[in-house]
Amino acid sequence: MRKKIVAGNWKMNLDYEEGLSLFSEVVNIVNDEITGQQLVIVCSPFIHLYSLARLAKSSTKVSIGAQNAHQAESGAYTGEISAKMIKSTGAEYVILGHSERRQYFSETNELLAKKVDTVLKHALKPIFCIGETLEEREGGIHFDVIKKQITEGVFHLDAEHFAQLVIAYEPVWAIGTGVTASSAQAQEIHLFIRSEIAAKYGKDVADSTTILYGGSCNPKNARELFGQPDIDGGLIGGASLKSRDFVDIAKEFN
Ligand code: 13P
Repeated sequence: MRKKIVAGNWKMNLDYEEGLSLFSEVVNIVNDEITGQQLVIVCSPFIHLYSLARLAKSSTKVSIGAQNAHQAESGAYTGEISAKMIKSTGAEYVILGHSERRQYFSETNELLAKKVDTVLKHALKPIFCIGETLEEREGGIHFDVIKKQITEGVFHLDAEHFAQLVIAYEPVWAIGTGVTASSAQAQEIHLFIRSEIAAKYGKDVADSTTILYGGSCNPKNARELFGQPDIDGGLIGGASLKSRDFVDIAKEFN
């Protein structure tokens, strides 16, 4: 069976001390209360990664991820962070293709395909985000948009590398808005994504790919969303900044 995952995306929040304090709370509550096989991932700003990875050693249920990586191996890219650097902190995952990066930093599918390759080369696992805007949904082209994002972003991989990925469906109109996709809307897209993966890599690969939902997921709506057959967990923004809410979401898989 595929892995159930609840991943937090802290985005650009929490200074160093605040991040360590929140993470310590998360680890403690997870160790006390998570009884299932689900994995909890915290994707923090770069400054926290090394310390969090050390704290995470006290739990088999918590892993650490970054929120971005540069596509180049190294070099004159002032201010950037490479996949090799991220790997050296002890982090295991990297969010790639978040809609905020696509929107504010002009990240294209073509660029993201390169980032995916670099991250995989350093034995990190991409959490690859896809999702349509409100205009695209209202224009009825959301399936086309998602197919293009996944085809151009990750379908160049061979099956062995593709198997390292986690996919996250995050409708842009649901991120930080308090408007969640209905469980039926999310399930419809997750099923579509899985069928596209099956068409490309076969049913076994599709059935073992974890596909997360993200966008205003909270302790109240997580059960309904995670109860859908093709939703394998969540990528959580705002609610991941509160230890109780975040772990309560993860506990839906207990
Ligand atoms: P919110 O949970 O705050 O809507 O953010 C979702 C998200 O963007 C996670 O990557």
